[in-house]
Amino acid sequence: MSKQKKIVFVGGGNMAKAIIYGLINNGYSQSNILVVDTSNDQLDIISNNYAVNVSTSMCKFNGDEIIILATKPHQIEAICETLKGSLSQQLIISIAAGLSISNISKWLNDYKYIVRTMPNLVAKIQRSMTALYCKDTLVQGYKNDAEDIFNTIGKVLWLNDESKIDAVTSISGSGPAYIFYFLDSLIEAGEKVGLDREEAELLAHETLLGSAIMSESYLDDLGTLVSNVSSKGGTTEQAINVLKNKNFKEIISQAVASAFKRAVEIGNNR
Ligand SMILES: NC(=O)c1ccc[n+]([C@@H]2O[C@H](COP(=O)([O-])OP(=O)(O)OC[C@H]3O[C@@H](n4cnc5c(N)ncnc54)[C@H](OP(=O)(O)O)[C@@H]3O)[C@@H](O)[C@H]2O)c1
Repeated sequence: MSKQKKIVFVGGGNMAKAIIYGLINNGYSQSNILVVDTSNDQLDIISNNYAVNVSTSMCKFNGDEIIILATKPHQIEAICETLKGSLSQQLIISIAAGLSISNISKWLNDYKYIVRTMPNLVAKIQRSMTALYCKDTLVQGYKNDAEDIFNTIGKVLWLNDESKIDAVTSISGSGPAYIFYFLDSLIEAGEKVGLDREEAELLAHETLLGSAIMSESYLDDLGTLVSNVSSKGGTTEQAINVLKNKNFKEIISQAVASAFKRAVEIGNNR
């Protein structure tokens, strides 16, 4: 994407700020970024921290802008109402959870140029895993523009079926909380076997970080990685046996399944 293309954020909350930071860090011109938000306080923070343009009212469009819908999902229909008269061929990108392309398209008078995305919380540190979806008919140039934006906050994955977004929500969307919960559990367990809180935090956190990085080369064979560190009769084998006997994989599977079910329900209610 041309780094000179104008990008308009509608909503300047947490996720918008993360993307703005990513864009600026990757050489996008601050003067080409506009944030429209209803809150003056929010706009002051954005203007002071990122030196981008801010406004409480929608700008006029000329055709080649990219508009990112970054408010809470329930606010998007009303925003589409204000946008629909002034669109020609701008790319609309939605980051709103649970809103389908057909909903947004309908609210925008059967508008065609839409990409739906699902970034995650770690966008704040440019490590988001962002899933993207668009209709087959969207031309490649628009897809490239969307991909370029989300590459500035991490990695991207294009989906071939919009219904997979609910599965994405249950893995990478909610996933950071699962990992934080696991880390918290490991720290507490460390304290129970005699470590100070700070010692347990350092050991557990560094172990999680190092293991996450190391696992990248073994993703298709994590079983081997587990057995490589579980020598017969050793300590790791004992712990893994407890996890297996308590059906750890099944617990994770049930947690993901219930997040997935909830994502489907939320999507159906919108
Ligand atoms: N946070 C995440 O980890 C995450 C992950 C994936 C997807 N998402 C999606 O990202 C979207 C934004 O989430 P967020 O956490 O960044 O939300 P947020 O922090 O609440 O930001 C939304 C901002 O939009 C403003 N706003 C409300 N109505 C508006 C309007 N009509 N025009 C312009 N601005 C308006 C809000 O102002 P007020 O506060 O004054 O209402 C607020 O500043 C959501 O749809 C969410 O589903 C978030």
